[in-house]
Amino acid sequence: MASVVGVEWWWMLAAAALSWWLFDAAVRFAWRPRALSRHLRAQGLRGPARSSLFHGNLGDVKRLRAAGGGVTLDVGDHDFTPIAQPQFREWIPLYGRVFVYWFGATPDVCVADLGVAKQVLADRTGQFPKHRINANLMRLLGEGLVMANGHDWQRHKRVVHPAFNIDKLKMMTATMAACALAMVSGWEARLAAEQGKGKRQVVEIELSAQFEELTADVISHTAFGSRYREGKQVFEALKELQFITFSTLFDVQIPMSRHLPTRKNRRVWRLDREVRATLMRIIDTRLAAKDKEGYGNDLLGLMLEACAPEHGDTPVLSMDEIVDECKTFFFAGQETTSHLLTWAMFLLSTHPDWQERLRDEVVRECGGRRAPTHDMLNKLKMASLS
Ligand code: HEM
Repeated sequence: MASVVGVEWWWMLAAAALSWWLFDAAVRFAWRPRALSRHLRAQGLRGPARSSLFHGNLGDVKRLRAAGGGVTLDVGDHDFTPIAQPQFREWIPLYGRVFVYWFGATPDVCVADLGVAKQVLADRTGQFPKHRINANLMRLLGEGLVMANGHDWQRHKRVVHPAFNIDKLKMMTATMAACALAMVSGWEARLAAEQGKGKRQVVEIELSAQFEELTADVISHTAFGSRYREGKQVFEALKELQFITFSTLFDVQIPMSRHLPTRKNRRVWRLDREVRATLMRIIDTRLAAKDKEGYGNDLLGLMLEACAPEHGDTPVLSMDEIVDECKTFFFAGQETTSHLLTWAMFLLSTHPDWQERLRDEVVRECGGRRAPTHDMLNKLKMASLS
């Protein structure tokens, strides 16, 4: 009799759990999005209808991106929106420059109106926090500056921004020039090898891969000084983490699913542990050598200095947060700069007249030197971004 009561009790518990789960799913995927849609429409925000309760418009985004993958731009055409963000190209003419689409059950407001974008970016009320929807993105960047909000952002900024002031950057110029020189020497060696074999007078170099390598080198050196090799190991692991993150960016995040031991999750956990352990090893070595060598003049040293125990018992940033900032430097600084260089080279290759003008400027300001100094770089007006 006791076991029959026990079984009934379990059935009731399971039925209650199932009802709760169904209720929660109905609220999360049907009732709440519908109510939010009504509110947004009342404020004049339109957008594509949710094509699936569960995926929202993510299916449409994936379909449009797959079609965009087949687009080849004409050499003179710089409009990459149909490839990179085809959904915006499709929806802006239909719904206006500010519209809403559905990231699963979460509304995402797209702002393509300059005035509204300025208003959002200048807002200091905290109404527009950073997008923290993707668990893998959080793992990639942690609580570093790019993802931090409000007071946390100000706390991180106090430590990180001084590391980027002009005097510190001046000191890093020689390191950056040395990395660039090593890359160019590699090209020259390849050319000499071809010529030595009596072959071609030219070599073909895949520049985007070279610039990825160069920017990873520069960040590893400027962030970690003499421990740059371990910095590059961090970079390799983060690169894979970044690939997983971006390949799942348009997948619905099922609550709790990131805790399941799937193959991908286990790989993500391992990479995450590897990144943290390597960074902590670099930090611990630095702290141990502090009395003899100081914290160092690289980005890590400057952060450790600002959070050193000498400043009191409660450092501005914890060690975990310093680790997150190291990850942020790689993520924020590597792909951005490597794509910038690749794109600049592409444009120069299509505009040989500009190649000539830039070459003349470099020869004039840097003379016969292989590696420019910071003062020389300051004189390059045509080559500067401003
Ligand atoms: C062409 C090169 C770069 C471009 C186009 C670029 C672009 C941007 C943009 C648009 C943001 C604002 C992101 C947001 O608030 O949502 C940002 C923030 C940031 N970037 Fe860059 N970036 C570049 C290079 C770098 C480099 C080399 C580093 C460091 C090694 C870096 C570190 C950061 C950091 C730490 C933030 C967060 C700043 C804050 O919130 O105070 N970036 N970047």
